[in-house]
Amino acid sequence: DVKQPEGACIMNKEVAFITGSAQGIGEAIARRLVKDGFAVAIADLNFELATKVADSINDDGGKAAAFKVDVSDRGGFQQAIEDASDSLGDLNVLINNAGIAPTTPIDTITAEMFDKVYHVNVASCIWGMQAATALFKGKGHGGKIINAASQAGVVGNANLMLYSSTKFAIRGLTQVAAKDLAKDGITANAYAPGIVKTPMMMDIAHQVAVNAGKDDEWGMSTFSKDITLGRLSEASDVANAVAFLAGHNSDYITGQTLIVDGGMQF
Ligand code: NAI
Repeated sequence: DVKQPEGACIMNKEVAFITGSAQGIGEAIARRLVKDGFAVAIADLNFELATKVADSINDDGGKAAAFKVDVSDRGGFQQAIEDASDSLGDLNVLINNAGIAPTTPIDTITAEMFDKVYHVNVASCIWGMQAATALFKGKGHGGKIINAASQAGVVGNANLMLYSSTKFAIRGLTQVAAKDLAKDGITANAYAPGIVKTPMMMDIAHQVAVNAGKDDEWGMSTFSKDITLGRLSEASDVANAVAFLAGHNSDYITGQTLIVDGGMQF
């Protein structure tokens, strides 16, 4: 008989596939879900970084596998979801977290930029949902779809026409998915982070700073003035909320966007 250490998450009863989880919010979500007993698929364009995250989770006694995925490539993304379910165990949760946020003042937008941002941020959610829900249904159980929206998908953000509008779209497609999938025991929700200290937000702060002729720290500091709680978000703040959506305490919640922005909306 092997005696398990008290409090350790030895049994991986649930499996989550998380896109864009090689860094930032996605990585924080993966590490948080491992604490809740999930096995996690670390799916990212950056396979080297994804492998490092998966290795470090496995070294710490969790269960993770890295997948090289471009979420805008329907075939490759859907295949990775199936592969993860084969190698990690029966999938229960898909988290469509990957996204890109290029600065796009209205007069600079090209058809190529439009296609790129809409494919990575919006089409990917549909491709992921198709593969995950087919697996859930095939196994005869329900599941959870969780999509990354944004504060910028609740209020339009200046200079982010493409990004902001994709995040409004995410809230809409999440509501539709909730209605279409309820009969199969599947819930669909979104999370809307505010200003989170990740590489993505550092890039945006850098752009703001360059435009104003100031340094990056100044760029970042301009963001906190609108936050009721008076501080920027850590990735872990978002991960805690996503863990709630991924776990059974949220079983009666569907079609919602959980805003995790420290109070920017009032
Ligand atoms: P990040 O840029 O720091 O990390 C995103 C990850 O996604 C990277 O590892 C990147 O390699 C990966 N990725 C990008 N394109 C991909 C593709 N085509 N296929 C697979 N992986 C791809 O971003 P961050 O800040 O962690 O954001 C995560 C999500 O949260 C995004 O959807 C973002 O829009 C959303 N969000 C972030 C906020 C913030 O303040 N950082 C605020 C609101 C929403």
